Amino acid sequence: MEQNIPPETGSSENTDGASVMRPAGKKVFVKTYGCQMNVYDSQRMSDALAADGYAPTDQIEEADLVLLNTCHIREKAAEKVYSELGRLRVLKEERSQAGRETVIGVAGCVAQAEGQEILRRAPAVDLVIGPQTYHRLPKVVQRARGGEKIVETDYAIEDKFEHLPQPQKRVVRNRGVTAFLTVQEGCDKFCTFCVVPYTRGSEVSRPVAQIVAEAERLAEGGVREVTLLGQNVNAWHGEGADGREWGLGELLFRLAEIPGLDRLRYTTSHPRDMDDALIAAHRDLPKLMPYLHLPVQSGSDRILKAMNRKHTGDDYRRLIDRIREARPDIAMSGDFIVGFPGETDQDFEDTMQLVRDVTYAQAFSFKYSPRPGTPGADLGDQVPEAVKNERLQALQALLMEQQRGFVKSLVGSEMDVLLEKPGRQPGQRVGRSPWLQPVIVDEKAGEIGDIIRVRIAESGPNSLFAEPVS
Ligand code: 5AD
Ligand code: SF4
Repeated sequence: MEQNIPPETGSSENTDGASVMRPAGKKVFVKTYGCQMNVYDSQRMSDALAADGYAPTDQIEEADLVLLNTCHIREKAAEKVYSELGRLRVLKEERSQAGRETVIGVAGCVAQAEGQEILRRAPAVDLVIGPQTYHRLPKVVQRARGGEKIVETDYAIEDKFEHLPQPQKRVVRNRGVTAFLTVQEGCDKFCTFCVVPYTRGSEVSRPVAQIVAEAERLAEGGVREVTLLGQNVNAWHGEGADGREWGLGELLFRLAEIPGLDRLRYTTSHPRDMDDALIAAHRDLPKLMPYLHLPVQSGSDRILKAMNRKHTGDDYRRLIDRIREARPDIAMSGDFIVGFPGETDQDFEDTMQLVRDVTYAQAFSFKYSPRPGTPGADLGDQVPEAVKNERLQALQALLMEQQRGFVKSLVGSEMDVLLEKPGRQPGQRVGRSPWLQPVIVDEKAGEIGDIIRVRIAESGPNSLFAEPVS
């Protein structure tokens, strides 16, 4: 997934404490790669820079500061950054000949993983900043404008939520009726294929009071649906208002009390952290949407062991049974990797069988990509590319069939839809079903931000067409 952040206006307090020279009329372009946490971080970076006089723009040609918020999860994602930096070098040189300065920055997981190496491979880059040091971004940009080359990736663990300023209500309002909210960062699970424990560091949970304050501010700004984010979101824990240790389940119960916040979601979770309280939240909280992204990666016990997942295929099946007992209409989503080192035809068939047993409403599947510094990259018995391709195709065909089946099964049913934005065609609005499919209705059905009752008339491959019901 790759997306540009839409332009936003407005400014927010600079909590950095620095006396910063305000570059009048400057513009920043942020390009976001990878996961939803990067989308959230990009918004926070835009907010912090807006306070410093940088107006966000979605036109790279008019930007004085270009920030790439990067992803390191697979080789392809990381390589994309270097091709973009090649294009930016040309832009920077052309600008410089015209007497105009452009600052180029690399943020995100490639910045954290590669640091100084980025300056060596892409000399046009002025600053490199890791995800744990974004609160220093305004100062770093100021130094870069003074001609310094900066790599800012060292951090103390207690700084991790030394976060960028909260967006003002007005800024929230411009962003729409759904929002992300980071509650947890980092990962201690060390799956043997994954770079996240190295790029995002060890697991840290944000305190309850901070999360509740941010959720309340979002609700006051008109947000009706919040998705809690974390690399391992259901590992979140903290001291609750009652003095007891809370997990994500208890936190969801607290957030459900906030007036105006009508829909809650969370992503991404690990099967080993689905505790009883979280399953109870799915059973007892109507505001918690019946959709769960719970990656399993493989259906083979041998491969799960080599991946250090610390659960079996049957553990996962039993867990899904318990969740479905608590919330029968829940739709499952997952992530899969094919071609992990040593994966045989039988191992792959075990993955296919697990998919048939569980049935997914949506899923993401990838070819294994060896990542430098992870244990998987050093394993022998890497699977040939052609085999990976074949397996990916077979898996994706099965998952696609299940996804289409799920969408079709919704035709004729009634559901509540949160209207999010105008549709592509004039006279339409697009909302989202509880199971995340876009739902298209006539604009007379309601205003953006309304939750309306509809009946599904027709389905496309992943979207639905609906009529309002009174
Ligand atoms: N190769 C392929 N896919 C990977 N993922 C994580 N690391 C790798 C890798 N090295 C996938 C996992 C994870 C998702 C975010 O990306 O499926 O859940
Ligand atoms: Fe990566 Fe998720 Fe495993 Fe953590 S739990 S190492 S983020 S795949």
